[in-house]
Amino acid sequence: MRQSSATAQLYTEVRSSLEFIFDLDRLKMIASKALQLRTPLSREKLLHAKRPPLQVDANQNDSIAEIEVWMRRLKIGALISASFVLFAWIEIDGLSARKYLQHTGFLRTASPQPGQKPTDPAAWGSNHVGKPVPDFVHGDECLFCHRNDIGPGWQKNAHGLTVRQHEDAPEWKDVFKGQASLASVAPQVDYFMGSRHRLRFLKKEGYGKFWILNTQGELGPGRQVQKWIDAQNPAWDKEKFANRCAGCHSTAVDPATKAFTGFGLDCYTCHGVVNLEHPNDISLVFLSKKQRSDAKLITSTCAQCHLRMGKSRSTGLPYPNNFVQGDNLFQDYQVDFSKADDESLNPGDRHILKNVREVALNGSDFPTCISCHDIHKSNSDKHRRAPRTAICNDCHNAEGPIKGGKAYKVISALCEY
Ligand code: HEC
Ligand code: HEC
Ligand code: HEC
Ligand code: HEC
Ligand code: HEC
Ligand code: HEC
Repeated sequence: MRQSSATAQLYTEVRSSLEFIFDLDRLKMIASKALQLRTPLSREKLLHAKRPPLQVDANQNDSIAEIEVWMRRLKIGALISASFVLFAWIEIDGLSARKYLQHTGFLRTASPQPGQKPTDPAAWGSNHVGKPVPDFVHGDECLFCHRNDIGPGWQKNAHGLTVRQHEDAPEWKDVFKGQASLASVAPQVDYFMGSRHRLRFLKKEGYGKFWILNTQGELGPGRQVQKWIDAQNPAWDKEKFANRCAGCHSTAVDPATKAFTGFGLDCYTCHGVVNLEHPNDISLVFLSKKQRSDAKLITSTCAQCHLRMGKSRSTGLPYPNNFVQGDNLFQDYQVDFSKADDESLNPGDRHILKNVREVALNGSDFPTCISCHDIHKSNSDKHRRAPRTAICNDCHNAEGPIKGGKAYKVISALCEY
């Protein structure tokens, strides 16, 4: 790359400033020169100004010029040291600034590159297989205090909406209107499932159990049902939700009974068991500004639901066995990562598989899901600022400036869409 002379000059300036701040002898020499002059180091005096020029001999004149130069370097030096201090302290999107710059290639790194050091994904951490579901603080309590920062967004968040009671989904009050074949089951539906692509219908039967209707509504733009699937012969399935859906569409499922503790996704599914002392020290709560840098923990947390092709070794079910935030998902949940390289898989599902593989198998610590996704803002705006890595090519051109993003359709045999 061609370096402009201005850049070269800046570089020299910065380098000599750095040398300067670490060279105490030089500092002493300049201080003594300043004392010899016995004149305040005012810029005005040192330079021309309106007053008569200082009575200085040639030797002193040199000294003044030199002091000028060194003073400037001192300032740059101070600026650089300040930024070093700032550097150790600031974070960019949950990553220390140093790491961030390493990933952009701006700073060189000695740590292994992704793909170089395959690791055993199960070789760390704990799991809760065979243990009881822990006690946790429920979302209502969290939202009592977090009603202003989190509350408003939560009502629109896909995680919060994934299973809703009839009365909390006014937009679907009349969804069965005009569907004669569904008239008999319509009054039995007391919960809705899905919010963006598909609508499913549930009814509560006993503690922590749902029956699920085979009928589906396909949602179009504007989130209205644009097509009905299996509307002619509606039938309730008593086992399917517990056996195939519960772990990812409800909260804290007891592996023995397959009953959920709460319908829909509670704060617990991502934040885990939250210590109520956390208002005094936010590092006590996972995903707070002071505790969101452990790539493996973040990835395990999101992947417990977003790897929709895995299987629990201990239960054989298609969702994890009693995963509690802080656990290592991969001790019990088994996933075939080879699909990550399958170009026919849509980028929506593939980038998740790839990202999890990089972190869990290859020990990469960047990017993670939250380098690109902002859960409580329900968007991926962050991703535009992320340093460019191989994962970007799943949806973008590999060469040249990034434009737009490939359109894709997310599908899942497990979720039946
Ligand atoms: C391993 C976890 C997991 C299991 C098990 C699971 N799902 Fe899902 N489901 C997800 C995730 C994650 C999404 C969101 C995916 C996305 O949008 O990319 C989802 C999305 C959906 C959606 C689409 C919601 C929308 O409107 O976009 C429906 C409907 C759905 N699942 C139904 C089911 C049903 C029915 C079952 C059981 C037969 C089931 N899922 C089992 C994780 C799971
Ligand atoms: C699907 C996972 C998920 C669920 C469920 C979830 N959160 Fe979060 N939460 C996150 C992530 C991830 C962050 C970190 C912010 C970021 O980088 O996106 C976060 C950050 C926060 C923060 C800090 C806000 C900030 O600006 O950094 C608060 C407070 C919070 N969550 C409260 C809640 C409450 C209360 C609930 C339940 C109503 C909840 N969360 C449910 C994933 C989740
Ligand atoms: C008694 C009130 C109260 C309850 C209950 C409560 N919180 Fe908090 N929470 C706070 C306060 C106060 C803070 C500190 C706010 C700050 O400094 O930004 C905080 C901070 C947080 C943060 C870190 C915010 C940040 O800036 O990074 C998260 C995440 C969080 N709470 C999640 C939860 C979750 C999840 C629950 C429920 C399990 C919960 N809180 C329950 C009052 C509460
Ligand atoms: C307990 C299961 C579960 C966990 C944990 C979970 N998700 Fe989800 N996620 C879902 C389901 C289910 C949906 C689809 C909900 C629907 O539309 O009905 C979803 C939807 C999404 C979507 C698409 C919706 C949107 O608002 O853009 C994104 C992105 C997403 N999740 C990212 C994450 C990230 C990042 C994490 C980890 C911090 C995470 N999820 C943790 C189950 C989960
Ligand atoms: C490099 C950035 C990046 C990383 C890392 C990343 N994502 Fe994404 N993801 C995106 C972008 C961008 C989209 C497309 C969003 C859109 O269409 O607005 C997306 C889409 C999704 C969707 C589909 C949303 C939908 O429309 O249904 C889900 C779910 C999701 N990501 C979850 C995850 C999870 C879980 C992880 C971590 C294992 C992850 N992502 C890692 C950038 C990323
Ligand atoms: C899962 C698919 C997906 C991945 C992975 C992804 N992007 Fe995107 N990207 C999109 C989509 C879709 C859009 C357009 C809508 C949007 O901004 O959400 C987009 C838009 C952008 C834009 C704005 C482009 C424009 O024309 O305005 C930039 C910049 C960008 N992405 C950068 C990145 C970088 C950098 C990465 C890797 C760290 C990345 N993307 C990874 C899907 C993706």
